[in-house]
Formats: sequence, C-alpha cells, structure tokens
Amino acid sequence: MAENIHPIFDRLLQRSDRERRLGQRSKVLWFTGLSGSGKSTIAEHLERRLYNEGFFPQVLDGDNIRSGINNNLSFSPEDRRENIRRIAEVARLYLNSGIITLNSFISPTREMRAMARAIIGADDFLEIYVNAPLEVCEQRDVKGLYEKARAGEIKGFTGIDAPYEPPLTPALEIRTHENSLEDSVEQVFNFIHPIIKYQ
Ligand code: ADX
Repeated sequence: MAENIHPIFDRLLQRSDRERRLGQRSKVLWFTGLSGSGKSTIAEHLERRLYNEGFFPQVLDGDNIRSGINNNLSFSPEDRRENIRRIAEVARLYLNSGIITLNSFISPTREMRAMARAIIGADDFLEIYVNAPLEVCEQRDVKGLYEKARAGEIKGFTGIDAPYEPPLTPALEIRTHENSLEDSVEQVFNFIHPIIKYQ
C-alpha cells in the first residue's frame, strides 16, 4: 500500500516548494482588537509595505470575507465563531500556498482565537493585539456604529453590549492610541520580518 501512495506524494507540491518560489516563509498574522482599534488600517499598510519589500502578502478582512464566503453570517456568538472558523480554514489554505496572510477580525473571545490557532497550527499563528481603549475607538467611530450601538439601533455590539476578551499572551501588542500609524506598521514589520525572511 505504502508503495502505491508514495509516488503520488512525490508529485504533490509541498508548502516548502511554494515558499522557495515566493522567497518567503508563510505565516498567519492574526490581528485582534475592538472595532475602530486600527486592525484593518495597519494590515492594509503593512500589506503594501511587505509587497514593496518583495514579499507576497494577502489581507483577509471583512471586505473580502464577510461580504463573500461569510455573507450568510450574523454577529451572534455562534455566527462569529463560524466566521472565525472559516477564516482560519481559508488562512490555512493560503499558508500551505506559501502566502503570508494578514487577518483582521475582531475575533472577540479567547476561545475563538484558540480555535483559530488550533486550525492553523501554533507555530504559524501569530496573534497581534491591536489595543486602543474603548473610549478611543468610540471617539474615532469611523463607521458611526458605536453611536448606533449606544442608541440601541445595533444590538450585541462588541465592547458595548457584547464581550471583548483581550489576549493574555499575544505575540505582539500595538497600542494605536500612543503611536502614529507609521510607527504601528513599523513595529509589526520589524517583528515579522525576521520570521518571514527566506534563508
Ligand atoms: S467578528 O466578531 O466576527 O470577528 P468581524 O471582524 O468579522 O467580527 O466584523 C466586525 C465589523 O463588523 C466591525 O468593524 C463593524 O464594522 C461591523 N459590525 C456590525 N455589527 C457588529 C457588531 N454587532 N459587533 C461588532 N462589529 C459589528
């Protein structure tokens, strides 16, 4: 039996083949934080920065996930969990394609993020806590959703009437209320660069 399986395995491209072609080590960067903390903004700028340095990154966020593959999911605890489960599976496919994903989702509970870590594999899952106090996120209110949540027009809004559990031991914490966007992006870049560099 083993002889019959082996030749097939030899033909399959491995993650290491793809990493060699792309000249990088693939990883999953998992940005977690409140709505308005700056996750997506950092991820988008970092994506461009990495690309300019010769890397091959891909942002996954609400724009390309919740509007497509997950457009049947709400913000109930069960649907958020399913949202994160599918995203982790998608990130795993990218990982095995040699691509670095920058995942930007609230992923509000430790249990959800532990699930994502388990799907992706602890060695490849890098949790980045994008930390800004609720007052700051609410003050920014980029999408006007905090105001709606306070007015009772949105129920179960994270930080208002739904929980957010900060990571206890993130690989990296970025405090966006104390740093410029440029500095925040640079902090993540400096952290990730030695990890994704092909050598
Ligand atoms: S998660 O909780 O399932 O990880 P996700 O990151 O995909 O959330 O989506 C969060 C974005 O959806 C927010 O930035 C906000 O724009 C929007 N949103 C709509 N309803 C809610 C809600 N009840 N709680 C939090 N964010 C919401």
